[in-house]
Amino acid sequence: MRIGMLTSGGDCQCLNATMEAIAKVLYKKDKDIEIYGILDGFTGLINGKYKKMEKADFDNILLSGGTILGTSRQPFKTITKPDENGRDKVEMMVKNYEKWKLDALIVLGGNGSHKTANLLSEKGLNVVTAPKTIDNDIWGTDVTFGFDSAVKVATETMDNIKTTASSHGRIFVVEVMGHKTGWVTLYSGIATGADIILIPEIPYDINKITSYIEKSDKKYLVIAAAEGIVEKEFSSLKNKERRQLLSEKNLKSQVEKLALDIRTATDKEVRITIPGHTQRGGSPTARDRIVSMQTGTATALNIINKNYGVMAAVINGKIVNVPLKEVAGKLKVVPADAEIILQAKEMGICFGD
Ligand code: F6P
Repeated sequence: MRIGMLTSGGDCQCLNATMEAIAKVLYKKDKDIEIYGILDGFTGLINGKYKKMEKADFDNILLSGGTILGTSRQPFKTITKPDENGRDKVEMMVKNYEKWKLDALIVLGGNGSHKTANLLSEKGLNVVTAPKTIDNDIWGTDVTFGFDSAVKVATETMDNIKTTASSHGRIFVVEVMGHKTGWVTLYSGIATGADIILIPEIPYDINKITSYIEKSDKKYLVIAAAEGIVEKEFSSLKNKERRQLLSEKNLKSQVEKLALDIRTATDKEVRITIPGHTQRGGSPTARDRIVSMQTGTATALNIINKNYGVMAAVINGKIVNVPLKEVAGKLKVVPADAEIILQAKEMGICFGD
């Protein structure tokens, strides 16, 4: 068999760990297998860039974050539009798959990548995927690889903030990644014992937050705020309209507005900390490596068993193969009434609602 493999979209700590698991199974099951490592995600498939992999290339790569194949963003909304040279990108991908005589294509990717993977599957390519993203927002799986490692970094950032916040008696707003969802913020916020946790799924009322702060008898406070937070007052507006309002006030983000509003209303010292892309770096956690092993092994077995057009998901700790057409175009958001949120509220954590 000849298999193409690519990593697509934002990287995470577990891409190499998942590829190591896939490769171990494939080389064990099929001594003659050839793996074509497609470089820089779908961009490599479009432009015909690959590296013929050797078994040794996958030895002990599980400890390193990033991806040995490189990655890139090829937004789905422009995938059917011609590239700068007027070429049809989807046609180029299909042509290269056929030119290289691939039997199947493995895609390790997030939400957008799953839409493209599904499109290629509909075009007749044998595609299998595994769920990658720190955001944990892929529909159809309880967990994605990368999530736990990002939670660890965000938690450590907030843990480290506490001493300086305490020394100075300040309020710290820590902006956590997660795109349109609040999974990383919720888990790291609870893990660090944040006083206030704000996620996009629960639009916040600034008055609830400032009155919580005024009533608090603590010398300092930590606020875990997702990058995608939404203010209740403006929640009916489109994203573009909300961005416009912020730029009229010379504010770069909603988190910046939150910090400013708190400062104005409470007269307390407020600082913002943004761990940013460090949340995608470093070595994967043990828990994440297990998810990589589970989904990587299942992905390789889907290749061996010719079970195409599916994503290897983890549901209740067990592997379930979910059809790509069911995954594509959906988002897994945090339910506002999730048990973990209700418990956090019992502990007195404020969600701004
Ligand atoms: O999807 C992963 C993610 O890290 C999001 O949490 C974040 O919004 C985005 O990627 C950042 O993208 P980029 O690496 O392109 O700046």
